[in-house]
Amino acid sequence: MAPTFDCLLLTQPQDDVWLITIDRPKALNALNKALLTSLSQAFQWLDALPTTKVILLTGNGDKAFVAGADVVAMQAMTALEARDFSHLGMALMHQIEACSAPVIALVNGYCLGGGCELALSCDYILASENAVFSQPEVSLGITPGFGGTQRLARYIGKGNAMQWILTGDRISAQDAHKLTLCHQVLSPSELLKGGLAQAEKIAKNAPQAVRFAKQLIHQGLNLSLHDGCQLETERFALSFTTQDQTEGMAAFAERRPARFSHQ
Ligand code: COA
Repeated sequence: MAPTFDCLLLTQPQDDVWLITIDRPKALNALNKALLTSLSQAFQWLDALPTTKVILLTGNGDKAFVAGADVVAMQAMTALEARDFSHLGMALMHQIEACSAPVIALVNGYCLGGGCELALSCDYILASENAVFSQPEVSLGITPGFGGTQRLARYIGKGNAMQWILTGDRISAQDAHKLTLCHQVLSPSELLKGGLAQAEKIAKNAPQAVRFAKQLIHQGLNLSLHDGCQLETERFALSFTTQDQTEGMAAFAERRPARFSHQ
């Protein structure tokens, strides 16, 4: 049985697919220290389960994915406390990127500040038509603190990231889609279904190969093309030591669906 985590709902909508729902409705799911810690614990628990194939992350209700870091909590922070808070958030974002199973953000409403940074740390984003993205920190007299300046510039390019972050503009789901920040825009009632459809496709593939591919894409973003390609050669070779490579290629030759294990 799944453990419980403060301000999170953890459910298993399909075999080997988990849904984390952020549930702090009074603050539109804003991230405080307790919620960052809960999320970290939940990801740690799911990552340790060898059968986890896909994790979906969303916010409870139809108004907000996450409306930012908790502004009320930040108001009284000293610079040293703010640094600790940033470290806590940064560690969670790195943890999500390093999580072996793919993580898909289902952005269902406000996705602001720390919420946008949380979505950016997931492997990709599906958004509902009412999603609103923004990094409004400069309007509060601060900078992004959970990796927004770094990930946004890498994902949508320097000029677009500058425009988002320096203006604090609110960006619609459609505009985020045009900038390839989100992969698909769905009606609010179809968002979870869309996430589950993605999860189902991923879960049919060889789990270890999916994990290797996820790692390669993340690690390669921080390497030169040459070093990234060398790393890919090594993982490609390693994938030939798995039972799933034997099964996948046998299934192709025998014209039948593959029955993958986790090995
Ligand atoms: N931190 C803490 N509390 C937050 C919050 C945040 N980031 N975002 C919303 N809340 C709280 C509000 O204070 C309010 O609490 P209250 O009912 O106790 O007063 C509750 O959530 C509902 O928000 P409210 O502002 O009344 O809803 P709204 O529909 O009028 O506006 C937003 C929604 C998201 C536009 C607005 O809440 C907002 O601008 N939030 C802050 C966004 C932000 O700057 N985030 C980045 C932080 S780095």
